[in-house]
Amino acid sequence: MTHSEINPTAKGSGTAATDKFKHEAIKSDTSTERANEIYKDLLAAIADVAHKHEVTYDEYRVLKNWMIQVGEYGEWPLWLDVFVEHEIEKINYNRHHYTGTKGSIEGPYYVENSPELPWKCEMPMREQDKAAQPLIFQGQVTDVDGKGLGGATVELWHADEEGFYSQFAPGIPEWNLRGTIVTNENGEYEIKTLQPAPYQIPADGPTGWFIESYGGHPWRPAHLHLKVKSPGYREITTQLYFQGGEWIDNDVATAVKPELLLDPQTDADSNNIVNYSFALDKKE
Ligand code: DHB
Ligand code: FE
Repeated sequence: MTHSEINPTAKGSGTAATDKFKHEAIKSDTSTERANEIYKDLLAAIADVAHKHEVTYDEYRVLKNWMIQVGEYGEWPLWLDVFVEHEIEKINYNRHHYTGTKGSIEGPYYVENSPELPWKCEMPMREQDKAAQPLIFQGQVTDVDGKGLGGATVELWHADEEGFYSQFAPGIPEWNLRGTIVTNENGEYEIKTLQPAPYQIPADGPTGWFIESYGGHPWRPAHLHLKVKSPGYREITTQLYFQGGEWIDNDVATAVKPELLLDPQTDADSNNIVNYSFALDKKE
């Protein structure tokens, strides 16, 4: 398949995201008492909105049909990660007194067990990816006092220069632009990759219809996804964005934080270079 033949559909990426999610361990130790409180508040919140706007029967049926379609297109992971996950992420960051690097949403396109790469490496990429603007991402994984954490892992995944993710758009090699980088004895890494493009969430399915219905846009700013882990430390799931980039100020997924902006400089070889380090909190 050539470059231009990659033509992902909402149904295709939705189904892939749903299939992947179904294979994850999904459980919670929520008590019956807590479930009862949440259930009551949830229904009360729905009732408040319905009364406030005097929702019509036509609107109720449109909602019912839309929810059925979201399921049939496999788009619940997409819709929830765009419109709800950022609040859950914020709640769980604020629950503790973390001082390390800020988190952001995981999104629907993380895949575990990406190939291990040495601290200084190039991400798996195709010939065509090499034509994109190169990005050298370097830094150090430390504890909150700045001590380097050797052997930490930095899982990196991001979209290509067209905004597509491997394993969720057709025709891209399985581990393209996905890797698990192991830091050197000082906790350092130096990763050569490419500058990702802004990402348009699938607009030809129910999430797209939803956005269109309220006059919104389906764009996320260009971003890198990361998970940083070291034994004994709290794992960080985050994203990094590019200062001044398109959609930074109005991300459809509301997941940009000022602490997560990169400002790469161009070196003599026309590579964009940027330094960003991660500080991990000790596990409680
Ligand atoms: C979605 C995609 C992303 O890349 C992301 O970071 C968050 C959400 C989505 O399509 O739902
Ligand atoms: Fe993403």
